[in-house]
Amino acid sequence: MFFQLSEEHLAVQQAARDFAQQELLPGVIERDAQMKFPTEQVEKMGEMGFLGMMVSPEYGGGGMDTISYVLAMEEISKIDNSCSVIMSVNNSLVCWGLEKMGTAEQKSKYLPRLTSGEWIGSFCLSEPEAGSDATKQKTTAIDCGDHYLLNGTKNWITNGGSSSLHLVMAQTNPALGTRGICTFIVETSWPGVIIGAKEDKLGIRSSDTHTIMYNDVKVPKENLLGPAGDGFKFAMRTLTGGRIGIASQALGIASGAYELAVKYAGERKTFGKPIIEHQAIAFKIADMATEIEAARLMVLRAAYLKDQGLDFGVAASMAKLFASDVAMRHTVEAVQIHGGYGFVKEYHVERLMRDAKITQIYEGTSEVQRMVISRAILQGQLYQPMWVS
Ligand code: CAA
Repeated sequence: MFFQLSEEHLAVQQAARDFAQQELLPGVIERDAQMKFPTEQVEKMGEMGFLGMMVSPEYGGGGMDTISYVLAMEEISKIDNSCSVIMSVNNSLVCWGLEKMGTAEQKSKYLPRLTSGEWIGSFCLSEPEAGSDATKQKTTAIDCGDHYLLNGTKNWITNGGSSSLHLVMAQTNPALGTRGICTFIVETSWPGVIIGAKEDKLGIRSSDTHTIMYNDVKVPKENLLGPAGDGFKFAMRTLTGGRIGIASQALGIASGAYELAVKYAGERKTFGKPIIEHQAIAFKIADMATEIEAARLMVLRAAYLKDQGLDFGVAASMAKLFASDVAMRHTVEAVQIHGGYGFVKEYHVERLMRDAKITQIYEGTSEVQRMVISRAILQGQLYQPMWVS
């Protein structure tokens, strides 16, 4: 076991840290307050290579490993989680899915646009009645010979008002259950793609989350992604990788709040000394540091397993479950350490606290992660402790 990042990993981490400080920090409070989509910032993320980090250079990507990706995600999430969710969906869900399952034509047509930031993508699985229970897809795609006719409603779609490409899961034959579900590449400029209401959210407010309607959208046959009937498994496989990205977002939220809390507690004095010297605060900070380090190890381990081509599903769910709880718990503590200043926007911790909540909800709620983990235990897939004979 070798707990050391390479020179390349450290360089990616530093580049993301500098980028977040220089390009994302200015204006982050205003963008959040006004729910203003970070158009210029996303353009710059594309120029910097943050939108297609793991995609092969052949398609304009960075050709990097998952460890580099989570290091960059952590740094960007310390500052701006609207930008990091845009980055996460584009990298882990849309680009990953297209590169893994796409034909040569699909990859060369769409990936260069998505990795450069000319286009961003959305992953359209959730429906009004198919959230955690994702098998209950009501969106239909009827085979009409040279095309499919797509009809239905998706909701909670990240990048919904800004994306140019959707990966849409739809049912082609209800009698087949999950094996009738297919994935389609849909361009949002096509007739019948209707962008519905934008959600007014608690956190990640400058990312745009919309309901999307598909109204008799003609999807050419060549835009079926992967084998027919593989759509549900495709969605699950893609989300499994996506959960590492959201775990790294949660880690960034927690470590961002921690860094602000340590700085504030070192400067703010009460009863004649900096508050960090009061045990009540010092112990909180020690707990934060310890749990954040544990979350970081879990995120890096899940990324490492994925990079090695090993089974990473349970590790990804555990990392997301733990890191998102750490983010929630310790952003609340960071606000408490800041006292009244923590309750106002200028000090950033209240935004991180609001942003933390979504990491326990999207790409599978904490309850879904517990389902994945407990099923693996029941099926005997997890390692047995040494004392079990
Ligand atoms: N990889 C590959 N295949 C998988 C899989 C995985 N990780 N998980 C399940 N499957 C397969 C199963 O093997 C099974 O295949 P067979 O029919 O061949 O046996 C099939 O899929 C159905 O599996 P289950 O019976 O286990 O399905 P289930 O209904 O019990 O669901 C679940 C399991 C884990 C709860 C799943 O439904 C789930 O993950 N739900 C949450 C969905 C989710 O994360 N939504 C997030 C929306 S996207 C988003 O948030 C993006 C964003 O914008 C930020």
